Amino acid sequence: MGKVIAIANQKGGVGKTTSAINLAASLAATEHSTLLLDIDPQANCTSGIGLESEEIDASIYEVLIGEVPASEAVITTEMPFLDVIPSHINLVGAEIEMIDEMQREKILSNRLPRIRRKYDFVVVDCPPSLGLLTLNSLTAANSVLIPVQAEYFALEGLGQLLNTIKIVRQHLNPELEIEGVLLTMFDTRLRLSNQVAQEVRRYFGEKVFETIIQRNVRLSEAPSFGKPALLYEASSKGAKNYMALAREILEHNQEFLEQHHANGEDRTDDAGADEEDEAGAIDNESSESEESTTPADDFSL
Ligand SMILES: Nc1ncnc2c1ncn2[C@@H]1O[C@H](COP(=O)(O)OP(=O)(O)O)[C@@H](O)[C@H]1O
Ligand SMILES: [Mg+2]
Repeated sequence: MGKVIAIANQKGGVGKTTSAINLAASLAATEHSTLLLDIDPQANCTSGIGLESEEIDASIYEVLIGEVPASEAVITTEMPFLDVIPSHINLVGAEIEMIDEMQREKILSNRLPRIRRKYDFVVVDCPPSLGLLTLNSLTAANSVLIPVQAEYFALEGLGQLLNTIKIVRQHLNPELEIEGVLLTMFDTRLRLSNQVAQEVRRYFGEKVFETIIQRNVRLSEAPSFGKPALLYEASSKGAKNYMALAREILEHNQEFLEQHHANGEDRTDDAGADEEDEAGAIDNESSESEESTTPADDFSL
């Protein structure tokens, strides 16, 4: 089973979509087969990777309502190790349609197991809310990556997100971990950025990635060309920062990857694999710090 990393923060504009696209592209660039899954009705991730809605036959919407299997919504990209399941504005309706379903928080996790075997990583771009779509993503995920903008009020609302993660762990997905907290849009010239970084590190301790994503105009330009920064301008600071993030994540997940590959699971080995997802298939508890005593530890994640 590939590792599912949900990129979540109910605040808009903190760098979720930018991180999803560029992390997925960077993991793919290191030849790890990666699926980028857009579950935000705004579909910024979908357009940012260069997909027009006319070229999309099936999106995550059709997958969630059970019209097509996840594999049929997959679209390949110009990067050999990167595939996408796109989103569509009609996903707004799915959230309402899902409300009456049994186990409505588990719909995504029930749809993913077959396809997860084909990938090393599935990166999920969540919407800016803690609604049913984000809950489904957290329930289907092994870990959550939390982008935090190095700006005023950076920590505002994070208690609510951590509480949601805690509830998901208690009731829906006991294995859910925090992959890391990612500082985004960091401006080295601003004292404020450094202050925010310090505050975030004080709160989250070792859960904060060493890699910091700097403010970089190439990262904001690239989506309008339908490309990850790596393909738009590989030498840009933004592309390099996300490459460094991918390396950091790969390092944290070495054990998982070894196990994953030992099980012979990759994109060439998908024949007839349709058992249910096994909780606990991924066990990388060693990547968590046990000794740190930051306020976030109250959530025992
Ligand atoms: N590191 C960065 N440097 C410059 N602009 C960025 C950076 N990260 C994100 N942006 C821009 O900030 C805006 C919000 O980012 P986005 O990734 O869409 O956030 P979210 O998905 O959380 O709403 C977008 O216009 C994006 O291009
Ligand atoms: Mg977004």
